Amino acid sequence: MAERSNILITGASAGLGERMAHEFAARGRNLALAARRLDRLEAVRAEILAAHPGVTVVVRQLDVTDHEQVFEVFRAFESDLDGLDRIIVNAGGGKGRSIGTGGFADNAASASLNFLAALAQCEAAVELFRARSAGHLVVISSMSAVRGLPRHMTTYGAAKAGIAALAEGIRADLLGTPVKVSTVYPGYIVSEGNRPDPRNRLMVSTEKGVAAMVRAIERERPKAMVPAWPWVPLGFLMRRAPLGLVARFS
Ligand SMILES: NC(=O)c1ccc[n+]([C@@H]2O[C@H](COP(=O)([O-])OP(=O)(O)OC[C@H]3O[C@@H](n4cnc5c(N)ncnc54)[C@H](OP(=O)(O)O)[C@@H]3O)[C@@H](O)[C@H]2O)c1
Repeated sequence: MAERSNILITGASAGLGERMAHEFAARGRNLALAARRLDRLEAVRAEILAAHPGVTVVVRQLDVTDHEQVFEVFRAFESDLDGLDRIIVNAGGGKGRSIGTGGFADNAASASLNFLAALAQCEAAVELFRARSAGHLVVISSMSAVRGLPRHMTTYGAAKAGIAALAEGIRADLLGTPVKVSTVYPGYIVSEGNRPDPRNRLMVSTEKGVAAMVRAIERERPKAMVPAWPWVPLGFLMRRAPLGLVARFS
């Protein structure tokens, strides 16, 4: 398997994206990091370069809901690093409201960030990969994509299911080419947007969760639920459980 030397990560100013940047730098990879908070990205770059002076880290401000900017920034990174080998569509998060309770604006914002902006990133990434006949597209979905979920999770889960289906469709379109596509389904991992919750016994630290994500990404399998324990067996059960049970435990 080709080593992916130059890796673009969106949503790299905090949480899982920031931690993935550290993990890949420790493996000697060069990084292109994007998010809205440029000051945070610059701090992440400084920390990475202090720990791993041999790698190159470039940062650019990007709001992924600005679709034109997604294409511009991805092309700029491609030229900064003289080619991108892997692009991780990670920027996302946020919650919504129960459908039909006056929360349309929040739900539309969630769908826009977690689906439409991810589509823009996939388009921009695959355009670059088609031109080079190489590359690895990684889409960060969620275990929330496995079943329809109630309350504040309904739109978020639907958007994450949407991008998982999108990634599979892109994979189908690119079968037989050197371009690879992977979907990662994280369980509960502590991050800036997902604060530690002592009542949630399934939640793992950022370090543990992201180490599992990075191992899964490096394997380049089509789909990975992470950390594999307990999420692979839970995913199996979630798919088959009666909806009432899924709703109660989500
Ligand atoms: N943590 C979990 O348990 C978990 C579980 C399943 C899936 N996920 C998924 O994993 C990904 C990362 O989540 P996280 O927990 O690390 O979230 P987080 O701690 O809230 O970090 C989100 C990152 O995305 C960036 N971002 C948000 N909106 C953006 C926008 N419009 N344009 C560009 N960047 C934007 C943020 O940077 P700026 O604010 O600087 O833009 C930040 O770097 C998300 O796709 C999330 O849905 C997380």
